[in-house]
Amino acid sequence: MCGIFGYIGEKENISKAIIEGLKSLEYRGYDSWGVAIAKKRKVFIHKQVGKIGKAKLKKIISDCGIGHTRWATHGGVHKKNAHPHKDCTGKIILVHNGIVENFETLKKELERKGHKFISETDTEVIAHLAEEIYKKTNDPKKTALQVFKKLQGLNAIIILFPEDKAFYAIKNGSPLVTAKTDKAVILASDVQALLPYSQQVYFLDDNELLEAKKGTLKLFDLNGKEKKFKFIKTNFSPSQAELGKYKHYMIKEINEQPKVVEYIANHEKENIERLAKTIKKAYGTYFIGCGTSYFAGLAATYLFSKIAKRHVNAVVASEFSYYLDFIKKESLVVALSQSGETIDIIDNVKKIKEKGAKVFALTNVLGSTLYRLSDDKMLLNAGPEKCVVATKSYIAKIAILFLTAHSLSQTFEKGKTELEKTIPQVEKLIKSKQIKKIAKRIKNKEHIFVIGRGISYPVALESALKIKEVSYIHAEGFPGGELKHGVIALIEKGTPVIVYNPRDETYEDTLSAAYEVKARGAYVIGVSDKNSPAYNEFIEIEKNGEAIIIPQVVIAQLLGYYLALERGYDPDKPRNLAKSVTVK
Ligand code: F6R
Repeated sequence: MCGIFGYIGEKENISKAIIEGLKSLEYRGYDSWGVAIAKKRKVFIHKQVGKIGKAKLKKIISDCGIGHTRWATHGGVHKKNAHPHKDCTGKIILVHNGIVENFETLKKELERKGHKFISETDTEVIAHLAEEIYKKTNDPKKTALQVFKKLQGLNAIIILFPEDKAFYAIKNGSPLVTAKTDKAVILASDVQALLPYSQQVYFLDDNELLEAKKGTLKLFDLNGKEKKFKFIKTNFSPSQAELGKYKHYMIKEINEQPKVVEYIANHEKENIERLAKTIKKAYGTYFIGCGTSYFAGLAATYLFSKIAKRHVNAVVASEFSYYLDFIKKESLVVALSQSGETIDIIDNVKKIKEKGAKVFALTNVLGSTLYRLSDDKMLLNAGPEKCVVATKSYIAKIAILFLTAHSLSQTFEKGKTELEKTIPQVEKLIKSKQIKKIAKRIKNKEHIFVIGRGISYPVALESALKIKEVSYIHAEGFPGGELKHGVIALIEKGTPVIVYNPRDETYEDTLSAAYEVKARGAYVIGVSDKNSPAYNEFIEIEKNGEAIIIPQVVIAQLLGYYLALERGYDPDKPRNLAKSVTVK
């Protein structure tokens, strides 16, 4: 989703600084971008459709500027709709993340007053509204506060007043985080853009106004009363966010998974035991998440049932508001979110808290909105995940949930041993050339199906998501038993079907399903600890209890990656997807 970057401080090559800042936000997803730089009494604005790529703006030495990457919502992908937007006088410049729900009403009023609009965006309305208010207040701070109070919806804005060499930032939805060094104040939508400057950061709370002027940084509440900052040290380091020797972040992050598992197995016992105790005490536990995070929650329902003999629920976060009637003070919601900013999670967590229930967050981002909102939290400690598709954050969640289930059943050490056994298995899969060869063979197929039963079923769902979102081949996951109820109609000669078939209680039934699809011409890729004539291709992974789901998913991650390369797509930035989904 949209990315915001702002710099104010000592004079420097600011076009370069803003471009670098925006580049570090690229992974969030965008379709156009722009910058505004204050230069003496003028403002230089540049906007462009498409990726930043190797764009080189002319060198501008200045002390103040803002930039934006846009993910279109209101108004098509067009230069005129790219941010920054300005008012009629050109003295108020604005970038925005979110949706102004009452923009049509505001726009009509402003048009009646003679304001001329250039774009189709809701954002431009804010700039003209600020102009109207500034005419009366002649005070940038009051203007920012009053403008914000008139907006409906969830929004984050930076308003630049070039003549005052100041910008004001305020939000009630999408994240904004700031850092201050001896030389400058930097503001961004994401902590990763701040890492080259400082690891000491401050995440703005909703309804806080940040005033950044050269050398000063102040914080106010909605009434304009000054507040104190509490900076925290982020757990991400600048080097962790670099590509290093890898071609893409996706393969870099797949390669980092053994380390993520090792860290969790050896350093997180205390946190995991606390989560287990919280679940034990709760009267009804709900895991909520979106996309891959939801599939981790769904895997948890099987892990808890099988290992801890405990019933827990998994609900897609965007559907959770329809479950709120079940929530009581004694209920527990475990919110799963890599970014900690997904709007469907945040929205529900607020509602859950209003009902007095407890929220335990599993997130990768220290200081994120979810982190701050939750009653208790545990970090995934997977390091920055820059590829749009989730890999290592999923594995971190699975490792934590697997050990939590073991902790509940008083078998933590057994779980730890099984978890650690996945490390060489994953390393072997990453090194193997087999999955690359399979990708070559199936790269032109229209559909890929993935089946599994029991614990392998949520893995089938996550696998299909991984494959389709980077390769754009239609992929679907199913419980093995569901095939006969419809999907088998789609199997024809050569259709790839990935069959997760560990030798557990699901083995015989899944094997029958493999034979059934093979009889109809499918190209069966069997993933098991035992080969069978039912498989055209056999990927061997050793038996290892429920921890088997980790190498299973890695196979799909690698297959998705190689399919994307074979088909000529960028695996790090799949079309239409955003890393951090901060609008509904
Ligand atoms: C898929 C993927 C998404 C995210 C989803 C939730 O590869 O990355 O499905 O899992 O958008 O994001 P978080 O975990 O940040 O809440």
